[in-house]
Amino acid sequence: MIAVSDLVKQYGRFTAVDLISLEVKPGQIHGFLGPNGAGKTTTIRMIAGLLKPTAGRIVVNGHDLATEPEAAKGSLGFIPDRPFIYEKLTAAEFLRFHGGLYGIGESAVEERIREMLDLFELARWRDELVESFSHGMKQRLVMAGAFLHRPQAVLVDEPMVGLDPRGARLIKTVFRKMADRGVAILMSTHTLEVAQEMCDLISIILEGQIIASGTVEDLRRLAGSADDQLTPLFLKLTGGSGLQEIDEVL
Ligand SMILES: Nc1ncnc2c1ncn2[C@@H]1O[C@H](COP(=O)(O)OP(=O)(O)OP(=O)(O)O)[C@@H](O)[C@H]1O
Ligand SMILES: [Mg+2]
Repeated sequence: MIAVSDLVKQYGRFTAVDLISLEVKPGQIHGFLGPNGAGKTTTIRMIAGLLKPTAGRIVVNGHDLATEPEAAKGSLGFIPDRPFIYEKLTAAEFLRFHGGLYGIGESAVEERIREMLDLFELARWRDELVESFSHGMKQRLVMAGAFLHRPQAVLVDEPMVGLDPRGARLIKTVFRKMADRGVAILMSTHTLEVAQEMCDLISIILEGQIIASGTVEDLRRLAGSADDQLTPLFLKLTGGSGLQEIDEVL
């Protein structure tokens, strides 16, 4: 589970994240949907323990990030928007290195690596150098690493950027499979379609605040009701299309 309450991040006088609260329960995929600069990455990096919040509380799988950072981070997987992989490693070496970071024993790690390479359809490239991988293959390898230590909660920042339809479908299937095993997934995206297709619940973030939260049905109802902040946001998210078309998208 991931539980965030009253999270704030200020950069000088600018408030990038402004009192955000949300909860992702085991087995749920929660979409964090909003335009560029809304505060998605900032929030995710704070939950990952990479950025210190100005205020607020973060609990990951029962562990308060402020008081039990190692337990919280150890039970979490993180897939950043711009992952770094050392290119001179093979896929298996990268995963072995990752396993070491999370303290997976040598006897268990080879089996886990096999399992993850199969799951992300990378088994054929197990001993190839990462530098020869396509963008989609690198993306899948980073995801394999994030799931290797069997985290009970996973953060994913923009997982679908640059993936072809087959790659995107694979990711969708794997995320759903992981959620069915009880993993809580928080995923950011700009795209309404992605959120709609993959997520059980969606929180819409705008200028550092969650302005609406719920199922696709809930949001559709909200977007249909005039004179709230949602209507202009939906226009933005759907590339300026009208409300009628937004209804079709949702
Ligand atoms: N280190 C920083 N110093 C100052 N402002 C920052 C810093 N990092 C982020 N910001 C600002 O915080 C706001 C939120 O940024 P963030 O990266 O969280 O947005 P995002 O929702 O992830 O956007 P995108 O969809 O483009 O990835 C932006 O206005 C950004 O310029
Ligand atoms: Mg971002």
